[in-house]
This record gives sequence, C-alpha cells and structure tokens, in this order.
Amino acid sequence: MRLDNKTAIITGGASGMGRAEAEAFAKEGANVVIADLNQEAAEEAAEAIRSAGGKALAVKTDVTNEQDLRNLVETTIAEHGQIDVLVNNAGIFDKYATSLETTENQWDFIFNINVKSVFNLTNLVLPGMIERGNGAMVNIASVAGLVAGKGGAAYTSSKHAIIGYTKHLAASYGKDGIKINAICPGTISTPLIADSLKDIPADAIPVKRFGEADEVAELATFLASDEAKFMQGAAVPIDGGFTIQ
Ligand SMILES: NC(=O)c1ccc[n+]([C@@H]2O[C@H](COP(=O)([O-])OP(=O)(O)OC[C@H]3O[C@@H](n4cnc5c(N)ncnc54)[C@H](O)[C@@H]3O)[C@@H](O)[C@H]2O)c1
Repeated sequence: MRLDNKTAIITGGASGMGRAEAEAFAKEGANVVIADLNQEAAEEAAEAIRSAGGKALAVKTDVTNEQDLRNLVETTIAEHGQIDVLVNNAGIFDKYATSLETTENQWDFIFNINVKSVFNLTNLVLPGMIERGNGAMVNIASVAGLVAGKGGAAYTSSKHAIIGYTKHLAASYGKDGIKINAICPGTISTPLIADSLKDIPADAIPVKRFGEADEVAELATFLASDEAKFMQGAAVPIDGGFTIQ
C-alpha cells in the first residue's frame, strides 16, 4: 500500500476534503490523525475509518491555538513515534467579500486559520522530518491562490500566501528529503461552499461539473506517497480545467 505505516496528520480532517483525505490515506495503510475543531465530527470520522479496518485517531485541535498544535504533535508522537505526512487542509472561506467589505478582524480571522496556523504547525513538524531526512507536506491551497474571482480579498490573498509559503519551504527543505507541495482545488462540492454552490455556474468549468472531495483526496494521496518523490514546490490545480481558460 502506498502509505503503509506512515503517520499522517490531517487538519480539518472531519469534513469535506479533509475527511476524504483521511479515508483515502487510511485505505493506503496510514495511521491517520484527524485534527479538527469539531470534536464530535472528528471522532465520528475516526470511528468510521476504524470500523472499515483502518487506523485513525481524533485529536480536538483549533489550528489557531498554539497549545492545541503542540498537544496535537505530542499526542501523535506519543502514539505513533513520528509524523511522516502533514496535510494542512483546515481552512475557511470569506464568501467573495471584496476588500471594502472586509473588516480588519475578518482579514485576521481568515489569515490566522488559512495561513498563520500552517506556519505554526509546519514549524512544529519540520524538525522531526529533517532529523529523519524524510517527510511529506501537502498544503491545501485553492485556484483562488492562482487567479482572482474565486474568493474574496482575504481568502484570495491567504491562498496566494500558502502557495508562496509552499515554494519557500520546498526551496529550503527539499535538500533534507522533505517534499512539500500544494493542491489548488477548483470548486469542490463540500459543506464549506454549500451555500455558495447555487451561485457558481458549473458552465464556466470546461468539464461542466464541480469536483468531488475524493478526487482531491486521490491527488493528496499521490503527493503524500513515495511515488511523488520528484514533486517539489508544485501548486497543482485540480479544477476541471477552470484555470486553463
Ligand atoms: N470546497 C471548495 O470548493 C474548496 C476549493 C478550494 C480550496 N478549498 C480549501 O480546501 C480546504 C478544505 O475545505 P473543505 O471544502 O473540505 O471545507 P469543510 O468546511 O468541509 O471542512 C473544513 C474543516 O476544517 C475544520 N476547521 C475549521 N476551522 C478550524 C480550526 N480553526 N481548527 C481546526 N479545524 C478547523 C472544520 O471543522 C471542518 O471540519 C480548505 O483549506 C479550503 O479553503 C476548498
């Protein structure tokens, strides 16, 4: 199996793409650690994986809380010895609020979850990966990190920031045997954008449909696995062709 006995933390792993990633990783043999603010949903997702024969643990985590992040890393290492894969997936959306419609508090709220937490958790996980000379990180960005018009001012800026951060990490730590890549999903049918879906024309997408969470999970599995060993610092669109137009 592609992730046999690898330990993977997935933030926001209780819903949408994070949950699909947790299920896909577990099917490939990984010990999955679901780190989510929503404890009930995280426990339920972990239990569903265990019932299907996989290995999963839920750790209640607010990614904006540094103590929670330290607890997540310590709990994972106590349980499994090391962290092989980190998927920075947790994120929130700003429903297309323009710059003038965005308050400073809203900007900070989006950036704390979508960007600063990724920096904080990455810095907690990197030292162990460097020591072992091995590891994989997958940052869930967005097509909103590549083009305008797929989110508001704060969301678009936060996802551009994650792609820049991914490239910086890849350039700095590729030599240490760590592969760090970003995924840029287009419109994927998940609870995050359930309210907005009716206003998004699928017609603007070359394949004329929205994506599914398990399609993104399949790409995340590849990027987390040894098969992707020459992938470094890429921001891979998975968007039904949206960004080619
Ligand atoms: N759905 C889309 O169309 C789409 C497109 C591009 C990128 N993305 C990105 O994909 C990622 C996952 O999105 P999704 O659509 O699966 O969302 P979702 O809302 O279905 O799931 C997000 C999960 O993150 C958790 N979360 C939120 N804030 C948290 C916090 N502070 N600490 C810990 N967990 C927290 C939620 O509880 C939830 O379980 C996000 O980064 C999002 O920006 C989504």
